[in-house]
Amino acid sequence: MKNFIAGVVITLLALAAGAYVSVVNGWIPANADDKPGALETWAAHSSLRATLKREMPTTAVPIALNNENLIKGIHIYAANCAVCHGASDAKASNVATGLFQHAPQLAGDGVTDDPEGKIYWFVKHGVRLTGMPAFSGALSEEQIWQVVLFLKHMDELPAPVQKVWKSIPSAKS
Ligand code: HEC
Repeated sequence: MKNFIAGVVITLLALAAGAYVSVVNGWIPANADDKPGALETWAAHSSLRATLKREMPTTAVPIALNNENLIKGIHIYAANCAVCHGASDAKASNVATGLFQHAPQLAGDGVTDDPEGKIYWFVKHGVRLTGMPAFSGALSEEQIWQVVLFLKHMDELPAPVQKVWKSIPSAKS
């Protein structure tokens, strides 16, 4: 039994030493112009999924679905999100092209099928170690819900709201 415990301790120390040596020698990639490895992708996705399940709100959206809130959401999106997630033409900006992780161009690869609470969680808290910022310190609760409402209903906007959305300039220069 003693030998077994000693074996376990030595293995753990060797793994910790290996991890330390990999980090201080730069063997764990630090660049953004590459694809993430399978282990990194698995760990990031699994942790994000579990966090969302625990934390995303499931209560009803606290603001009304009307043109005023949708248009406010579009303006918030144009000022804060289009640089990474694109305008209505879904063309990736130069910033989006260089991001690691990849930022979905929301006009093409949208989130209209996601529950509102999930979109809200992304906007409010951001995603660690990606370009996705947390807006909890910059936008009010009402503003976060307005941009959520817009993203949720992006594929069924009433005509006057659609006109505002189409008028947002392309993010691609
Ligand atoms: C600096 C770039 C950047 C900005 C600005 C940004 N995002 Fe993101 N966003 C990302 C990246 C990168 C991801 C992907 C994160 C991941 O891989 O988990 C993401 C993910 C998301 C997702 C999840 C998409 C999905 O398919 O599940 C939503 C929703 C989102 N962002 C909304 C917004 C909104 C709304 C704003 C503005 C208020 C915004 N983002 C601003 C980079 C950005």
